[in-house]
Amino acid sequence: MGVTGGVLTTGVLEQEAEAAPAAHVVGPGEVPITLHINGKPVNVKVEPRTTLCDTLRHRLDLTAAKRVCDRGTCGACSVIIDGKVMYSCTVLAIDAQGRKIETLEGISAGRMSPMAAAFVDNDAQQCGYCTPGFVVAAKNFLDRHPNPTEEDVKRGLGGNLCRCGTYMGVRKAVLQAAKMTRGGSNA
Ligand code: FES
Ligand code: FES
Repeated sequence: MGVTGGVLTTGVLEQEAEAAPAAHVVGPGEVPITLHINGKPVNVKVEPRTTLCDTLRHRLDLTAAKRVCDRGTCGACSVIIDGKVMYSCTVLAIDAQGRKIETLEGISAGRMSPMAAAFVDNDAQQCGYCTPGFVVAAKNFLDRHPNPTEEDVKRGLGGNLCRCGTYMGVRKAVLQAAKMTRGGSNA
């Protein structure tokens, strides 16, 4: 064994490489994947580097999730994955296979959802870029906390940002939706 210019010159590394199981390499070109979105399997081809957000918007015409920061800070791209709100810009589509994905389109099912209606009633949007993400996060929050206080709502939606400052309206909307859907008493 010897070292030449900082390089290990024995066959140790080569032997380890030979012993390691062959990695399953995909890409860099498009590969077929199957996603489970809003209760249905969906087949699509994407490059492995493609985020779930871009796949939804650009390949599947599901444009409710908005790509705003594209780096996991604003929540505009929120979807529900296996029951939890996640930023779809931080998830690779290829890694979302086998998981249950819900988008605002699925929650709405072709009509205005009670949560979306509460946003309208309470003037909880201005430019609207953050609104779909807020509605998704609020719906999921209310499913888990059916009778929240205003402070609960503030904390529960802490992962979503609104540059227009509609927070007061959003909180009122969630409290109204709680009252309407689960008998909450705080709206
Ligand atoms: S666009 Fe995904 S968190 Fe902002
Ligand atoms: S309504 Fe404009 S960013 Fe929230």
